[in-house]
Amino acid sequence: MTQTKIAIIGGSGIYDIDGLENADWVTVETPWGDPSDQILTGTLDGVEMVFLPRHGRGHVHSPTEIPYRANIDALKRLGATDVISVSACGSFREQMAPGDFVIVDQFIDRTFAREKSFFGTGCVAHVSVAHPTCPRLSDACETAGKAAGITIHRGGTYLAMEGPQFSSLAESKMYREQWGCDVIGMTNMPEAKLAREAELCFASIAMVTDYDSWHPDHGEVDVTSIIATLTGNAEKGRALVKGLPKLLGQDRAPCPHGCDRALEYAILTAPE
Ligand code: ADE
Repeated sequence: MTQTKIAIIGGSGIYDIDGLENADWVTVETPWGDPSDQILTGTLDGVEMVFLPRHGRGHVHSPTEIPYRANIDALKRLGATDVISVSACGSFREQMAPGDFVIVDQFIDRTFAREKSFFGTGCVAHVSVAHPTCPRLSDACETAGKAAGITIHRGGTYLAMEGPQFSSLAESKMYREQWGCDVIGMTNMPEAKLAREAELCFASIAMVTDYDSWHPDHGEVDVTSIIATLTGNAEKGRALVKGLPKLLGQDRAPCPHGCDRALEYAILTAPE
């Protein structure tokens, strides 16, 4: 039986894990370059945990500059089995209000300036991302969030934009009205695609900070209002993370949804 190792990729406002035992920041090298920062390792409730600040401590990497491949590869090298991405997002839905969390289950990837695959040049593979998130891991996030008293919405489509500027009003309305998106952010892609290629279970917790620019009763989004909401969100995010080890447990059976076997029929290149 494999041992669970939970990886948290923390977004804006979340820079470590509360109550981690034997905490140690480690440096990991990868063929894809350096990850965003050192990675915090330790145990919580007897379960091994690793934590990576997505933007680096001090928030030094913009969404475009984040070394996504190095980050996922580093987590894999450390033995992570489950990756939980925590990030800030804007909302396209009245009922997904600032302060609420959304367990995202679908993405529309509009990013265009990022490396999105570990494959190519000599080894070609096409994994399925029809269902880019792991329902088992998402269940645990939902349960932990509810136990922490957070208003959680299960399921939602995340529009991944390149940034760093926020959307225009026309884009915001199109994503909401024509494309049926629920939330918007700048970082979940290609994280989700790379986690699938690395055969890691992946869940995304999007913490709503604003209504983007579509909402007639709210002003346009800016960093000041995002930070104000983030401060409260970060506390809730940390409480949710604390509940995860007990729910996921030390022993880990194969993923019932096959996330850990994603490459089984995906590689086209003939072996040498
Ligand atoms: N992150 C937080 N709010 C956002 C928004 N409205 N658009 C893109 N990324 C965001």
